[in-house]
Amino acid sequence: MDSKTDDDLTPGQPVTNESIDQLLTLGRQELLKVGDLEELEQWRLRYLGRSGALTVALRGLSSLPVDQRRVIGAAGNTARKSLEELYESTLNTLQESNSRMHFQRSIDVTMPGRQPSVGRLHPTIQIVREITQAFSSMGFQVVEGPEVEWDKYNFESLNIPQDHPARDMWDTLWVDQQDKDGRFSTLLRTHTSPMQARVMERTEPPIRVLVPGKCYRYEATDPTHEWHFYQIEGLAVDEGINFAHLKGTLYEFARRIFGRDRKIRFRCDYFPFVEPGVDVSVDCFKCDGAGCRVCAESGWIEIMGAGMVHPKVLERVGYDPKKYTGFAFGMGPERIAMLKYGIDDIRHFYTNDLRFLMQF
Ligand code: FA5
Repeated sequence: MDSKTDDDLTPGQPVTNESIDQLLTLGRQELLKVGDLEELEQWRLRYLGRSGALTVALRGLSSLPVDQRRVIGAAGNTARKSLEELYESTLNTLQESNSRMHFQRSIDVTMPGRQPSVGRLHPTIQIVREITQAFSSMGFQVVEGPEVEWDKYNFESLNIPQDHPARDMWDTLWVDQQDKDGRFSTLLRTHTSPMQARVMERTEPPIRVLVPGKCYRYEATDPTHEWHFYQIEGLAVDEGINFAHLKGTLYEFARRIFGRDRKIRFRCDYFPFVEPGVDVSVDCFKCDGAGCRVCAESGWIEIMGAGMVHPKVLERVGYDPKKYTGFAFGMGPERIAMLKYGIDDIRHFYTNDLRFLMQF
């Protein structure tokens, strides 16, 4: 601050229009020199504070004759108002430039940028696409169906009537909604096989379709069982289709997905909607067939059920089973990914642990 003003602001002098003008001029000049908030506060105390020059000068008005008091008082108030406005606008300017400086200081242009996280396909979807590609090149068309399904398609059209013991093969999650006979008639589909009848109902042979989709079962989980998982259904119906076509197609699929060196096993199995039925397994990646926790000590991991479409299933959709025959299969893509990539627990797929998911 300019020390010269101290003399000019000495209290005790009689207040006049000139002395007020002088204070106003000095105040303005000093304000121009203020460089930070601290200096501004000192300025405020010097001019506008309780012992500030202008406050003290105006206090001296009381000793003046009334007519002078009115005129000089008005000039004093105008001067005070003017200095207060100048103070406010200087305060705003200093505060703004302070926050701008703080912002500038907080940007470190030398800091390396943050890597954007890029999404990718879930490993199940990757293997589903790989499998569908293998079958597409063999002439199969991809179709999809509902995950909430009628009992009629999930069981009845597949030769599994009400109260048939084969229903126990699929631990079913029923939707809480009963039909007029008090039975549960909708469910979360337990397999993709209901799409067999849905496709045949609206198509005439020849048929070659592949149906990927999610399935749900009310079952305890373990290294090879989830309560929700994917299946890929295959269906081929035409005149003259036989078991050799089924075997040839599945061998070709296994060769494309696992390579030539993997062992494939066909075993007789029972599914009410195929005759004959088989289950198809691949030798365990973990123990090479010796038996371990992953393959439940069997040396094999089952990847699908398959067989020749049962004549009753064909009849139900209005096909003549003497004219048309077909094969069907339903495989678990997570199990196939486990075999292909050496994943030892199916539950890793859906616990959403990025350390697992980012490996694919
Ligand atoms: C079926 O679901 C039959 N619909 C398959 C079929 C289709 C047979 C057409 C004949 C003709 P299954 O319950 O075995 O069958 O299941 C087929 C495949 O789905 C299994 O081999 C397995 O790879 C997979 N899978 C079954 N249950 C589970 C589960 N809980 N967790 C993960 N994958 C499963």
